[in-house]
Amino acid sequence: MSELTHAGKVALITGITGQDGSYLTEFLLSKGYEVHGIIRRSSSFNTGRIDHIYRDRHETGVKLFLHYGDLCDATNLITIIANVKPDEIYNLGAMSHVKVSFDMPEYTADCDGVGVLRMLDAIRACGLEKTCRFYQASTSELYGKVQEVPQSETTPFYPRSPYAVAKQYAFWILVNYREAYGMHLTNGILFNHESPRRGATFVTRKITIAVSRISQGLDKCLFLGNIDAKRDWGHARDYVKGMWMMLQHDVADDYVLATGETHTVREFVEKAFVEVGITIAWKGETGTVDEIGVDASDESRVLVQIDPRYFRPTEVELLLGDPSKAKRDLGWEAELGFEGLVKDMMDADLKMVKGETIDPEAPRP
Ligand code: NAP
Ligand code: GDD
Repeated sequence: MSELTHAGKVALITGITGQDGSYLTEFLLSKGYEVHGIIRRSSSFNTGRIDHIYRDRHETGVKLFLHYGDLCDATNLITIIANVKPDEIYNLGAMSHVKVSFDMPEYTADCDGVGVLRMLDAIRACGLEKTCRFYQASTSELYGKVQEVPQSETTPFYPRSPYAVAKQYAFWILVNYREAYGMHLTNGILFNHESPRRGATFVTRKITIAVSRISQGLDKCLFLGNIDAKRDWGHARDYVKGMWMMLQHDVADDYVLATGETHTVREFVEKAFVEVGITIAWKGETGTVDEIGVDASDESRVLVQIDPRYFRPTEVELLLGDPSKAKRDLGWEAELGFEGLVKDMMDADLKMVKGETIDPEAPRP
């Protein structure tokens, strides 16, 4: 689809300040959309990922507008949707950290579960249910204790965290409203997707920042939890395009987006260290807290240790997606694979650590 094909269309994004929100905003602006985003009031700046595309609304030709709001505030959502009158809504806002959801289960349920209900009812309250298409950021975490491998749209759910349980409510309330009211509502069941803009407490970014710092002598050791968990990791830029493609499909449906490859956290660590010329050798009993990763060329140098603080009360051991429905119906495929992803993130974090870019979560190409 060429640039500006969608000129005149209006999109509203919740979670615009997050990893996916920032890439999606760039993508929609490049297609000619007017983009509105909901941001949370914060005492410190939380717009670092979109500052490079934001322009003061007093300038001419401005296409990006920000509104204060929160998924826990129904009146505010109704007011924003009534004013913006979006053609498409992308609901990316969430308390998105699985481990943190065990510390804040009630808030997670409110924001990630009931928040979706608030959005859907706001669309109805504004009389937009026949015109406004809605994307919900569903997740491979729904598969949790997986019931089959690989996981597809027909695999039963078995959520393993307060985050995943909240997202399961969101998934089904969306399906119910689609069937009950004939609304164009879509669940994108996205497997893990990462980028140089990934939050620093998710495992991939935690690794690429730590390995970059270790390579420059700024840190000595990386502390991790379960390094044998397996994930199907793709690049966020590919996945936001898939979100948009889902909303262009005339019949609303639910789609898995994944690469179809799975790798352990351990492999991610090894590949990241290779990018700075270090080979990791694993010592101690595999899968225990005594296992360590050392520099194979100097085994006295301990570079990776296990800290049980990062274990989860219930873990998702294996995720591997089957994206064939998205390929067949939408023509979507992940372009960047595992090796390209590690390299992209390492390149960006090495630049950041060397002081060539400013901030860990600042936007980069
Ligand atoms: P992220 O970087 O953590 O961004 C989350 C966004 O939600 C941020 O903009 C955050 O605002 C906003 N937010 C948090 N609480 C909110 C609230 N109460 N009201 C309104 N906005 C709120 O997450 P992401 O990786 O971009 O993921 C986007 C969505 O996809 C999330 O719903 C996530 O659960 C889902 N998902 C992600 C993946 C993945 O691998 N990345 C896979 C499947 C599904 P602040 O910036 O102010 O914190
Ligand atoms: N965060 C983190 N920190 N995870 C660790 C660590 C650590 O120190 N050590 C090992 N892990 C393991 C986790 O136990 C998990 O099995 C795996 O690394 C990935 O963890 P995260 O990167 O935190 O992501 P996630 O898979 O739990 O959740 C992400 O992907 C979901 C889609 O499957 C988030 O983006 C969710 O919002 C998203 O829905």
